[in-house]
Amino acid sequence: MLKAFEFDGWHLFSQRTLSGPNWKTAYDGYLDFYHLPVLHANTFGSDFYNRANYFAFGPHQRLSTPSRYAIKVSAADDQKMDLAAMNDDEIPQEVLVQGVWTIFPHISIASFYGGGLRGAMISQLFPGDKVGESYTTQFYVMEHKPTDEAAIKAAHDQFDFLEIVVRDEDYKTGKRQHQALQSGLMKDVLFGRNERGGQVFHQWVDKLTNASDADLIEIFAAEQPSLAAE
Ligand SMILES: [Fe+2]
Repeated sequence: MLKAFEFDGWHLFSQRTLSGPNWKTAYDGYLDFYHLPVLHANTFGSDFYNRANYFAFGPHQRLSTPSRYAIKVSAADDQKMDLAAMNDDEIPQEVLVQGVWTIFPHISIASFYGGGLRGAMISQLFPGDKVGESYTTQFYVMEHKPTDEAAIKAAHDQFDFLEIVVRDEDYKTGKRQHQALQSGLMKDVLFGRNERGGQVFHQWVDKLTNASDADLIEIFAAEQPSLAAE
């Protein structure tokens, strides 16, 4: 399904590395839309619905906005599409793959339109030297390389904006969450029904970290029939 993006033909516009909290705490931010209108209220969150459609493929996931409308950015103009009025085969591929994908355990692909051009931020999270540290490589890729000055500036603005959102909102909060978790006062963390992404992720982390080598072979083998069937 990810092949539908045709990333091999996309342009790597920019990349950077950010430091973050514990990698699992950092990853939580990529797995739900529930926090958007709250944590990101001052940046982009007020434009977002707080619920998502969740799709899990084994430990891998996709979140999408449950909206009947989608924006198609053509070369000419922005066009709002009413998906409910379209046949399945009329819906463009870019609509079918939009949203936030995660490749377990540590990659997130968020697709969007920035400055009128289709882009994606591919984030790869790595554990840091200490349990409370991680670092994230952000790759900003674009379907088409921006050529004129205005488009290049718009792309830079979009990518810089994403750095601010992740660094000053998601990861700043994650660092505080990690401090709270490290206190040991909370024995459990409850993920609500609108936080399905966090449930799937942490259930898989728990399952794999508690598994013996023999268990791991069994767990991954159990995922294979569904892949083979497709
Ligand atoms: Fe966030």
